[in-house]
Amino acid sequence: MITDLWYKNAIVYCLSVESFMDSDGDGVGDFRGLTRRLDYLHGLGVTAVWLMPFQASPGRDDGYDVSSYYDVDPRYGTLGDFVEFTHGCKQRGMRVLIDLVVNHTSDQHPWFKSARSSPDSPYRDWYVWSKTKPKDADQGMVFPGVQKTTWTYDEAAKAYYFHRFYEFQPDLNTANPHVQAELLKIMGFWIQLGVSGFRMDAVPFVIAEKGPQAGQEPKTDFGMLRSFREFLQWRKGDSVILGEANVLPKESMKYFGDDGDRLQMMFNFHVNQRLFYALASADAEPLAKAIKETKPAYGTAQWGVFLRNHDELDLGRLEPEQRQAVFEAFGPDKSMQLYDRGIRRRLAPMLSGDRRRLELAYSLMFTLPGTPVMRYGDEIAMGDDLKLAERYCARTPMQWSREPNGGFSTAEKTFLPAISGGGFGYETVNVAAQRRDPNSFLNWIERIIRMRQEVPEIGWGACSVLPTRDKAALALRYDWRNNAVVVLHNFDAAPREVVFRPGGEDEEPDELTNLLSDEHSQPEADGRHRVVLEGYGYRWYRLGGLDYILKRSDI
Ligand code: NOJ
Repeated sequence: MITDLWYKNAIVYCLSVESFMDSDGDGVGDFRGLTRRLDYLHGLGVTAVWLMPFQASPGRDDGYDVSSYYDVDPRYGTLGDFVEFTHGCKQRGMRVLIDLVVNHTSDQHPWFKSARSSPDSPYRDWYVWSKTKPKDADQGMVFPGVQKTTWTYDEAAKAYYFHRFYEFQPDLNTANPHVQAELLKIMGFWIQLGVSGFRMDAVPFVIAEKGPQAGQEPKTDFGMLRSFREFLQWRKGDSVILGEANVLPKESMKYFGDDGDRLQMMFNFHVNQRLFYALASADAEPLAKAIKETKPAYGTAQWGVFLRNHDELDLGRLEPEQRQAVFEAFGPDKSMQLYDRGIRRRLAPMLSGDRRRLELAYSLMFTLPGTPVMRYGDEIAMGDDLKLAERYCARTPMQWSREPNGGFSTAEKTFLPAISGGGFGYETVNVAAQRRDPNSFLNWIERIIRMRQEVPEIGWGACSVLPTRDKAALALRYDWRNNAVVVLHNFDAAPREVVFRPGGEDEEPDELTNLLSDEHSQPEADGRHRVVLEGYGYRWYRLGGLDYILKRSDI
């Protein structure tokens, strides 16, 4: 397979323009500020930046309520600033992915305003209406506890409209061919301005049948995904879609397509939940099973591997006792939980800022099958502010220095306050301080990213789980082009001796060369290795002697 599928071995960094860097002192981040920070991202080893929504929006769901798809929200700058930013990325060899939020619009979008104003509006059928209140109106809410219904009565329209999310986010009628054509036009627009693809929001809802007749088990139109891909590949061959779809493994394969003809990338929510269970319980077996269950059938398909994102950590698909274990370990207080199914904290406070556990978690993110997707602030182990509502607690300004507002802005008041004081305040946790400290988390992340980039086996290769007979230990092997890599992780606080055979019975016993330190491992006569991992320890090895720190072949 051609090796220039850039997304197979990328390092993705997710940020919102709003919270990254404010250049004009109005308290809100902007494209000019972000553009000035591109050398920082490049230096970190980031190869693709994923921007959360920055289009015009009333901002009631942090930009996931778009009121104009073809404009930059004036708070963040202009289209000109956006193009300067994409150009700056291109100059540094970085790709740009942007959020594509087309399951719904804002209720302030001119399409919806027109649609609600008259049954004869050309946009009426762009949304989903019902004259009477559908029987299942109190079901299927994505934000239970906050959202009361999925059908809201609109006085002007004299009808109920469907909204899978908040009531100010009316669902688009994505089955309407006019809506589908507009959707392609939106993609075409941003592709033309220099992006390499989209993180598609809420994909299962975009392709689901909508309307009062759809009920709780709506039909799904996977053909739509194929048509998005066809369009994109024609306009710009190397563009991709990274889908947000928290679905079961069997279902997720359909999003990639049987012939790999639908989405190139999907977030691996299935692995994510079991990863947190493993971190909470020191039981890696469900995680190992999840890795096996989510083996993509097609070579161009790729998982996005993440730890925490901008939403709550959704534990909804774990077994009840597994979910309970994660709540107890990482979010015991009600104020830390959200929507009856998740935890809204950032990772570093969940792990009490424990460096060993943070390294374990990020070492996993960089070595699980797929492409790692980091979140801004991860690299300095930023914290959260639980005083803020819902998911806003984990969306505070980036902490650059110990200057006021963490160096994010010179304004008196910022869009959300920077975290100040305590163990995670900008006074202690910031880029400037960590840059000067060779042992900082920032420098560790930079080194691990560099190594991850030199281990393309993980992005490209076939992954197998090696038996260890110890549920606290996870051993993975990757094979690609005559190279093999073995990674070990110990989820327990206590040291463990891990005994495993990297190769099959027919393979010659081989040395394991440590990629991160000088502690290599020699096989026993029968080919087995014994490695003592310290509590929360991890190892990255390449199969073969010292020469194999670098790959055997680069074909
Ligand atoms: C998923 C996004 O990740 C979330 O932040 C947003 O609220 C919903 N989709 C609605 O767009």
